Amino acid sequence: MTTLTAEPLPDSLVARLALTDQGLADRLQHGLADAETRLREVAADVPNALVAEWSRYLIDAGGKRLRPLLVLLAAEFGAAASEDRSDRVPDAAALVELIHVASLHHDDVMDGALTRHGVPSASARWGNRAAVQLGNRLLIRAGRLAADLGDEVVRLQGVAAERLVRGQLRELTGAAAGESPLTHHFTVIADKTASLISLALRVGGTVAGVPVPAVRALAEYGEYLGIVFQLSDDLLDFVADPAESGKDAGIDLAAGVRTLPVLLALSEDGPRAAELSRLLEGGPLVDEGGRRRAVELLRSSTAEARARELLHSYATDARDALSDLPDVPARAALAALVGVVEHRTS
Ligand code: FPP
Ligand code: MG
Repeated sequence: MTTLTAEPLPDSLVARLALTDQGLADRLQHGLADAETRLREVAADVPNALVAEWSRYLIDAGGKRLRPLLVLLAAEFGAAASEDRSDRVPDAAALVELIHVASLHHDDVMDGALTRHGVPSASARWGNRAAVQLGNRLLIRAGRLAADLGDEVVRLQGVAAERLVRGQLRELTGAAAGESPLTHHFTVIADKTASLISLALRVGGTVAGVPVPAVRALAEYGEYLGIVFQLSDDLLDFVADPAESGKDAGIDLAAGVRTLPVLLALSEDGPRAAELSRLLEGGPLVDEGGRRRAVELLRSSTAEARARELLHSYATDARDALSDLPDVPARAALAALVGVVEHRTS
C-alpha cells in the first residue's frame, strides 16, 4: 500500500467523467438535481428568514458536489431503483454535503480564510460567531437526516464526524514525540478529508442495499480517493491561480499548516529549504511578503514533482480497490473520477 473562481457547476464533474453509458449519465444528472433540491430545502428549513439565507449562502455559492456524486455512484451497485430508494439516495447525498459545508464554515474560521467558492467566506462576511453557529446548524440538520435514514447511517455519520474533528485537532497538535511528520500528515488527511469522502460511498451503498463486501470495497476506494483529493488540494494551495481555485494562494501557509509539499520541500538539502524553514519556524505566515516568498520557494523546489508522484500512487490504489466490484457502468465512472480529482485545477 502506498500510502476549483466561480466554482464549476455541480454537473461539470459528471461532464468531465466522459460517461459512455447514457442511462448512467441521465440517472446521475437527475440524482444530483434531486440531491440539490433536498440540500437547499433542508438548509433553509428554519423560521428565521435571515438564518435561512445565511444557511443557504455557501451552498448557493457552488462547490463541485463531489460527495453527492459519490453517494449516487455507490448506490448504483444496489438493486434496481425502487420507489423507496429514490427518496433515500438524494437524502443521503444531501446529508453528506451538509456535513461537508458545515465543516467548511468551521475550517474557514480556523484558517482565517477570506474566500470560499469564489465568494467571501461566511466568517469574513458575518464574523466568526455566525460562521461557527452556521456550521453547527448544518451539522445538526445532517444528523436529523441521518436519523430518518436509519441506525446504520447514524452510526456511520458519527464515526466520520469524529474522525473529521480528530483530524483537525491532530493538525493543531502536530506530530507526537518520535512520530515522523509525514506519518502524522497522512493520518491527519485520512481523518480530516478521506473520512467524509469514504462516508459518502458507505452511506450511498448502505441506503441502496448494496451487499456488505461491496460497500467495504467502495469505502476503501473512498479512503484512497480522499487522500488523492487532499494531496491535490495541498498542491493547489501554491500552484493554482486563485481566480480558478476560488481560494487565496498560500492559505495553508498563512494558517501554519505544513502540507505534504511543504514537508517535502523542507526535507530537501540546500539554502532554499533552510530559508523556507526559517520563514515557517514562527508558525502561521501572516505576513504577505513572507508568504509570497514561501510560495516562490515551494514552486522552485522538487516538492511539486515528488508530491505528484505520491498522488499518482494513491490514485492507482484507489482504482485497484474497485477491482472486485461488479462491472456496472458506475465502476468505470468511479475509476475515471480518480483521474479527474488527481488532475483538478480547482
Ligand atoms: C478543509 O481542509 C477542511 C476539512 C477537510 C475538514 C474540516 C473539519 C473541521 C473544521 C472539523 C469540524 C467538523 C464538522 C463536522 C463541523 P483544508 O483547510 O486543507 O482545505 P481548504 O483548502 O479547502 O480550506
Ligand atoms: Mg482550509
